[in-house]
Amino acid sequence: MRRRVPLGIAAGLAVAVLAAGCAAAPAAPPPWEPWQTTRGQDSPLAGRIWEVGARRAIDPERLVTALAGARFVLLGEKHDNPDHHRLQAWVLRGLIARGRRPAVGFEMFETTDAPAIARYLAAAPADAAGLGDAVDWRRSGWPPWELYRPIADAAVAAGLPIVATNVPRGVARALGRQGVAAVDPGLAARLQLDRPLPPEREAAMAAEIREAHCGQIPERMVGGMVAAQRARNAQMARSLVDGATADGAVLITGAGHARSDRGVPVELAALAPGSRTQSVAFLEVRDDRPDPAAYAAGFGVSTLPFDFVWFTPRVDDQDPCEQFRMPPVRS
Ligand code: HEM
Repeated sequence: MRRRVPLGIAAGLAVAVLAAGCAAAPAAPPPWEPWQTTRGQDSPLAGRIWEVGARRAIDPERLVTALAGARFVLLGEKHDNPDHHRLQAWVLRGLIARGRRPAVGFEMFETTDAPAIARYLAAAPADAAGLGDAVDWRRSGWPPWELYRPIADAAVAAGLPIVATNVPRGVARALGRQGVAAVDPGLAARLQLDRPLPPEREAAMAAEIREAHCGQIPERMVGGMVAAQRARNAQMARSLVDGATADGAVLITGAGHARSDRGVPVELAALAPGSRTQSVAFLEVRDDRPDPAAYAAGFGVSTLPFDFVWFTPRVDDQDPCEQFRMPPVRS
């Protein structure tokens, strides 16, 4: 039986509903507030999303709408920045809210982790809390699982497959130390490591490797480390293509792998021609770079190699080369 609402209350409700309809709806707080990282919060770029091709700032909803039209969405982070992971989770939830049901690939899971992930999710299909332990995350060297967990939480809550995408660490290490000859020829062929890269791309990747290691690696190792980087890009693309649902796949990875001039997008274009890939980089603001275009120099190019860049505060102000642990080795 319907309960009758007393007239006075009904009138009050009507007034409240009308008032709510007339007043502007309270704006939702931006998805990044409050930031967890502190350095550079006051930068005019912090929180801004830059659409590289159109050279304009866009709002978060527009970004998600643009990404919802792509088969492959790459979300490129700086691994230790918690805000990058919060925003990745926010983007994934936004895609899900728009009806997308993509697979979610993680660079941090190696292909050999797939059975452990499957076993864990079979036992706890809607609980990502223990997924890190299931793959011995603590010993992996990645930042704490708790930073990545919101992304996995969003995925499992929507029943999305989680895909292990990276080459096993031992393979990458063998490539890095001894080059392509050190790995199984079948694997090298599958990842196309047996084919030379275009010389400009090889040179650019070699320069990136030298710079990433603060000029401290012996020259004789550079070729192998480029091969390791290529293997990672190629395996991540292969795993995304193989693991994609009808709605494609999202990849959680480092920004370097998400770059569209030589990262996973290039490999995806070769493996899945005609599929639309959109790449987002989460970049930390620098006080000496108030202009988005200035960040291209950090990637050794004149145009940012991503479709979108989402600027955030920084974790710290340490010079990565001061922390660099690899002892200089003589070539
Ligand atoms: C300050 C940050 C970094 C440190 C301390 C670091 C350190 C190292 C060390 C110690 C190795 C040798 C591993 C071994 O053979 O046992 C290595 C290998 C490698 N690094 Fe880095 N690295 C850093 C950043 C980067 C970046 C940004 C890239 C991407 C361009 C990169 C790409 C590679 C690759 C491809 C290898 C060879 C394969 C492997 O062992 O994983 N590194 N790095």
